Amino acid sequence: MSQFHHLTVEAIERQTADAVAITFALPPGAAEIWRFTPGQHLTLRARVDGEDLRRCYSISSAPEDNRLQIGVRAVPGGRFSQHLHRHLHPGDTLDVMPPQGQFGYRPRPGHQGDYLALAAGSGITPLLAIISSTLQQEPDSRFTLVYANRHTQSAMFRQTLADLKDRFLQRLQLFWLFSQESSDSPLLSGHIDAGYLAQLHALIGLNHFQQAFICGPTAMMDNAQSALGQAGIAAQNIHREQFDAGHQHPLPIRTSRDQRCDVEILHDGRRQKIALQPQDRSILDAALRQGIDLPFACKGGVCATCKCRLKSGDVTMEVNYSLEQDQLNAGYILSCQAWPKGDGVVLDFDV
Ligand code: FES
Repeated sequence: MSQFHHLTVEAIERQTADAVAITFALPPGAAEIWRFTPGQHLTLRARVDGEDLRRCYSISSAPEDNRLQIGVRAVPGGRFSQHLHRHLHPGDTLDVMPPQGQFGYRPRPGHQGDYLALAAGSGITPLLAIISSTLQQEPDSRFTLVYANRHTQSAMFRQTLADLKDRFLQRLQLFWLFSQESSDSPLLSGHIDAGYLAQLHALIGLNHFQQAFICGPTAMMDNAQSALGQAGIAAQNIHREQFDAGHQHPLPIRTSRDQRCDVEILHDGRRQKIALQPQDRSILDAALRQGIDLPFACKGGVCATCKCRLKSGDVTMEVNYSLEQDQLNAGYILSCQAWPKGDGVVLDFDV
């Protein structure tokens, strides 16, 4: 699952002045490898200015579409996204890891649900896949989407959403929310914040939604999560996808006071021992420095590409934005955030 594969770019469609949708051609006979749950992401790898960079991008297509498409917004100063925007063309190949990620929803044919999605900017990408797949697989279910952008021209997937609305006229309710465009309705201008959600609650009642999915900037998601909780949606039914590590600082370089210790790594059927040095920021960094090709992408605790199982010993983790409580209980950790508490740590990446 954590190996890169060469995928050919089939199409690049411009969405906005700074965003594109990239569709990959799937190799014949490889459908199983690329099967995904709506909401999951792909990890991409490319050499940029001689450096091996990796980034995660959510899949925007639904499994029923029989294609693999991601949305990429060019982030100011973002080396990887700028590289894709400037240098990638149809017919090029990219190194891509099979779909991963815990965020998402697996539609249940025959189930009747009422769902809410709150998206800001490129946060629409995984939610688009969830909405489309759910409406196709659950003929009696309904989805309400609030999609916030600065203005109409900056909204990604406008045409796809319009097509979806045409197709599911009665079952998809869409609120286009713009912060730099005025509207007679307070529900169509502004930001997704506590005030907006209070108005929405007064109008449609948020408590009747069985599941809610949120993706956007951290502050927006924090506000939305708390407003939905106050409206009566149970915490386990509120799902959020974090695209970045917010304003977290990079992990500190360890000082010489930190205990030096060894860690055993089980990967690709091999058992290897690594020594952690003061300059290592995590077990993952130490392993990469010593030539073990472990899977990773964000190095920020967000994507879970680096997850592994703690077989013995103990570790601390700096942050965790991606592992659920049941995974933590089962012994999974993020190697990019982990530091051993002493000798005897054994990590299994083959689980
Ligand atoms: S590499 Fe993304 S969470 Fe560790």
